[in-house]
Amino acid sequence: MTDKKIILGMTLTDGYGNLHGAWRAPHVDPDNYANIDASIRHARAAERGKFAFLFTPDFPAVSGDVEHTTLRHTLDPLVSLTAIARETSHIGFVATGSTTFQEPFNQARQFKALDVISHGRAGWNAVTTADAAVAANYGRPVAEREERYRRAHESIQITQALWGSWEHDAWIKDQAGDRFIDPSKLRPIGLQGEHVASRGPLAIPPSEQGQPVIFTSGGPSPHLLSLAGRYASGFISEVWTIEEARAQRAMVRNAAREAGRDPDEIKYIVGFMTTVAPTVREGLDRRLALAGDIIQARLPHLGALLELQIDPRRYDEPLTPQQLAVAHASPMDPRSGNALKVAREGFSPRDILAHGVIDYHPTVVGPGKLHADHLQEWFEAGACDGFWVNPDVYEDGVDAFVDEVVPLLQERGIYPTEYPGTTLRENLGVPAQYGIDPRIMRGDTR
Ligand SMILES: Cc1cc2nc3c(=O)[nH]c(=O)nc-3n(C[C@H](O)[C@H](O)[C@H](O)COP(=O)(O)O)c2cc1C
Repeated sequence: MTDKKIILGMTLTDGYGNLHGAWRAPHVDPDNYANIDASIRHARAAERGKFAFLFTPDFPAVSGDVEHTTLRHTLDPLVSLTAIARETSHIGFVATGSTTFQEPFNQARQFKALDVISHGRAGWNAVTTADAAVAANYGRPVAEREERYRRAHESIQITQALWGSWEHDAWIKDQAGDRFIDPSKLRPIGLQGEHVASRGPLAIPPSEQGQPVIFTSGGPSPHLLSLAGRYASGFISEVWTIEEARAQRAMVRNAAREAGRDPDEIKYIVGFMTTVAPTVREGLDRRLALAGDIIQARLPHLGALLELQIDPRRYDEPLTPQQLAVAHASPMDPRSGNALKVAREGFSPRDILAHGVIDYHPTVVGPGKLHADHLQEWFEAGACDGFWVNPDVYEDGVDAFVDEVVPLLQERGIYPTEYPGTTLRENLGVPAQYGIDPRIMRGDTR
């Protein structure tokens, strides 16, 4: 028996939700994209549920079908989260910031400012952005992976060194003695990399947690594992099965071990989409009402997952016994096993798709108990340390999760009933760090 508890984070994107069409829901104010009060409401709901952090992905570019789909990011993660920090007290903020396009000095300054303003609740999801539309906004081509990762190592090391350049006890604040700072403890870092550099120091004191917590996200390439293993305290992943998650988590933990760290210092967080409803039927109907068109367009993909021809005219009829007898989970897609399982429960293709079997993450639709069972199964199988939750519609989906799922997890003893502390570091259960980790060799960017 362990007293380890599930860590929950919540994605905060556009003020609407993570289900296609959330912005069109009748109970959602279409102005929410630019209304920080809406995001504050959603953040407070998550805080009521003892979520450890909000997670803001960031692809700062306009792309896709904007006539019908929303822009899936906050106006600006750090500015938005700073406003939210003033209206919350415990929830942390894991903001995505690109090592490909940002200068480490700006990154160090802005994230540490958020950390100080929020009293130690900031985290930095350091990503090696490779998105062409984002690159165009910065007026640069997308560099090769090797170069993006070398730049990422340099950026993180410089950022951490800048964070530590105002030493813990540098600030004397002796009014009578006329000594503001001990200059020997606010010193330049003088780091010159191949891609980025900074002299420093950074004129920001430590926060209650010292400095922001580093996260990273992406697929388990050797490049990313090397980055995560050395610097990250959180790893945000996208996986569909327990087996896949266990294998990837083992790789991430091993990367930390190889970097000379304790693998428990890095928390592996998997994605999860939710539609909480009194019954499965009501949940499916809610999803179909908002995203029916997108769901229908995925029918050919469902056929590929099940290795079946599905007649569009039989969209609303359960698969026949003959079809089920020959249906197979395609080895080409990790989502196919779940699609087959749902098909065998007797649902029509429309309803199989409404279960979210082709969504970005495993999806649970229905009563709180189904959600709690999913989380418990993954957690107890060693597939993750926690989840980044993607509610379908923020306006009522966060409260529904907090009221219907969180109490079950607490009753089962696998989720905190109170925040362990007031800083993000405490609430994640990761160790203190200030400045660059002395176990990580400075200047080594392989
Ligand atoms: C779950 C998840 C979340 C991600 N979030 C972001 C993001 O918010 N912004 C971004 O630029 N890249 C994001 N990425 C992309 C990766 O960090 C990385 O840039 C991309 O996978 C290309 O890197 P690669 O060269 O290692 O493949 C995310 C990836 C995953 C799997």
